[in-house]
Amino acid sequence: MARKPKKIFQSVKGMADILPQDQPYWEEMRKSVNKVAQMFGFQRIDVPIVEEEDLYKATAGQSSDLVEKQMYSFKNRGGDLTLALRPEGTAGVMRAYLEHGMVNLTQPVKLFYVGPFFRYEQPQGGRYRQFHQFGFEILGEESPVADAQLVSVFQHVMLNLSIKNTEVQVNSIGCKECRPKFKTALVSFYRQNINKVCKDCRKRIKTNPLRMLDCKDEKCSMLKQQAPQTLDFLCDDCRKHFKNVLEYLDELSVPYVLNPHLVRGLDYYTRTVFEFFVKQPPEAATPDGVVAPAAPLAIGGGGRFDNLADMIGNKKVPAVGMAGGMERIVYLMKKSGMTGMEQKPPQVFIAQLGEMGRKKSLRLFEELLDKGIRVAEFFGKDSIKSQLRLASKFGVKYTLILGQKEAIDGTIILRDMESSIQEQFPIDKIVEEIKKRMKK
Ligand code: HAM
Repeated sequence: MARKPKKIFQSVKGMADILPQDQPYWEEMRKSVNKVAQMFGFQRIDVPIVEEEDLYKATAGQSSDLVEKQMYSFKNRGGDLTLALRPEGTAGVMRAYLEHGMVNLTQPVKLFYVGPFFRYEQPQGGRYRQFHQFGFEILGEESPVADAQLVSVFQHVMLNLSIKNTEVQVNSIGCKECRPKFKTALVSFYRQNINKVCKDCRKRIKTNPLRMLDCKDEKCSMLKQQAPQTLDFLCDDCRKHFKNVLEYLDELSVPYVLNPHLVRGLDYYTRTVFEFFVKQPPEAATPDGVVAPAAPLAIGGGGRFDNLADMIGNKKVPAVGMAGGMERIVYLMKKSGMTGMEQKPPQVFIAQLGEMGRKKSLRLFEELLDKGIRVAEFFGKDSIKSQLRLASKFGVKYTLILGQKEAIDGTIILRDMESSIQEQFPIDKIVEEIKKRMKK
């Protein structure tokens, strides 16, 4: 009977492996995030990847794309609870803040996180179904200084990575008091122009009119230019708050672009919203072979969420935060030709022969590592010839050879790979000898 061919598994659509050659870029970004977090006094928090689905429904909003189309939801085995893979980090961080009584700590509480997130989206240039974000949240702070500081935090992370061509767009979408007036004006404007909007926006006018300003359809983008602007509807408090944010940004010498049509896709935002873009639209294919979009790439976003704590815990906690998209930033790091990301090559190779030689080499290998010397080996091979071949492939300056005879004598051979000159040393002197030669 013919054997059924075995299925060849591949990664799930939109979920990518991060391969060893890319790890140095990720490591560099995590280093930058940690460094900036420490500079600005943020503490790390890790919340679960799975939360109750209702947490996101209550905060992002029922009619947000995130909830309507993008959530990975599933019933737990008991069937009594619907869970979701986290599509974003802010709701989970606020849930943890409330759950652990951080409201009683000295405010503000400044938290940061790094990790994977999940959104069921159509994968394309820089958009994935599993992606990674770093996020910074300042909880329990009303002052506009915090809003400006977060923009600056993002800029610091970018500057550490030598990514300079970013632009931040800012706007204020007002509060519970003033936003309804803006919404009414917006709906009225779009009703008069309903024939000029796309099919999705005809639905959005009823469910989530603010999202119409965010529509990428060409017709809708054109029409947006004539739409009412949030800034004309702000109440006095929101206007003052936003004016201060801009003044603090000036004070910090952070250049920004005022985008009066900038809105964010989630219901929890109030007042300040911002988004970070790369100025030059990436035109080439991304490293994963996906062609990057023509529109500028959003590499981060955030804003104020003064009502979020109330949405899930009946508490008043003014807060502001932002998150950066790590896949997109890695793409920029590569595009900018960032060097020094490759792993440093080994300096010394240990070749061994016979059981005794191998045992002694094993210990010597770790002694050299402890002294900070980059050392390579091929302990699984016995042939000296193939070990030497590998040593030259690595391009090491020296190979140490430890055969059966040397192991008995307590010696070791040091071979200069360039001149092929070999010298013998007592094994207990070799680490010092290598250190001396490495210093030259
Ligand atoms: P967001 O704008 O939805 O905000 O996401 C932040 C960043 O994550 C985006 O600018 C983008 O770079 C990246 N990103 C989002 N979706 C994808 C995707 N499917 N594939 C690759 N990258 C993606 C938030 O998530 C808010 N929680 C930010 C925040 C923090 N607001 C307040 N605090």
